[in-house]
Amino acid sequence: MNRIFSGVQPTGNLHLGNYLGAIRNFVGLQNDYECIYCVVDLHAITVWQDPKELVGNTREVTAAFLAAGIDPKGSIIFNQSQVSAHAQLAWIFNCVSRLGWLNRMTQFKEKAGKHRETASVGLYAYPNLMAADIMAYKATHVPVGEDQKQHLELTRDIAQKFNTDFGVEFFPIVEPLIFGEATRVMSLRDGSKKMSKSDPSDQSRITFTDTADEISKKIRRAKTDPEELPSETDGLKERPEAANLVGIYAALSGQTSADVLQEFGGRGFGDFKPALADLAIEKLAPISDEMRKLMADPGHIDAVLADGAERARALTDPILREIHEIVGLISS
Ligand code: TYM
Repeated sequence: MNRIFSGVQPTGNLHLGNYLGAIRNFVGLQNDYECIYCVVDLHAITVWQDPKELVGNTREVTAAFLAAGIDPKGSIIFNQSQVSAHAQLAWIFNCVSRLGWLNRMTQFKEKAGKHRETASVGLYAYPNLMAADIMAYKATHVPVGEDQKQHLELTRDIAQKFNTDFGVEFFPIVEPLIFGEATRVMSLRDGSKKMSKSDPSDQSRITFTDTADEISKKIRRAKTDPEELPSETDGLKERPEAANLVGIYAALSGQTSADVLQEFGGRGFGDFKPALADLAIEKLAPISDEMRKLMADPGHIDAVLADGAERARALTDPILREIHEIVGLISS
């Protein structure tokens, strides 16, 4: 059976990269897979979160899932901390995973930076929890943006080592699903940096809660070069900002970058940016309108999460029991 698991951190500033690289793909996969989509609040607290903001951000990601078109009945939507199997399996994986493996994780190096000594242990062990998220369901496929690739390789290593150590064929070796024209959306201010929730500049990203006016302004101010757009994708090679905007247009319009250049090749950003702004508003405004409506009824959102958590626990309970048996942990 093919089962999808993926997660999004409730750390605020949900942006176009999260949408095009992940959430939009989550929606499309619902027809072909059993899908479990998680708001990973335990991952969020690996760096400091204000408790009240965390509650709001968890509801906001849930609202984004719903507004983007994830069906809470057909798929499972819940927040990670309501299903204890995630943390329980993460501990077991802390004992399977190796320090050397975690030392290679580029995301930890980027996030901890020079402050390695004062980073939380949770931030360091983050990828083990991520592996547990996926393996608590024995999920087979994980849709993510490009930046999560290394974490999924670690998940595969952990699953493999567990199977070998205990002489079982228990965990599947998960397949990343990284697809679409925008697997790595870059900052609007700097084409060499990915669009991220934590960039200090709000101008670097388009968020789910931006108004039409804000979207339009951010795209108009996006960094570009003075050249016209090329008519073939080869011409984008040394032009990261242009490549990014063309990729965003392609992803939003359901075309390839080559298609977009056929239309816009030879034209300047003075033409292209307004077209991109119109398209982004057309695609994102209905989602942010729906999100605003959903956010006005937190009781409904919490009920969706509670229902999803109950259904998630029904999946993880028997799997965790089997894992305990394999490891030699007595359970009643
Ligand atoms: P997070 O919350 O940083 O991002 C959520 C999803 O958005 C994708 N993404 C991007 N895609 C394209 N361009 C970008 N600029 C961009 N920025 C983010 C991410 O790749 C991700 O798919 N560790 C994960 C959360 C997680 C998870 C999991 C994912 C926890 N457990 C289990 C999959 C399976 C994270 O921090 O995502």
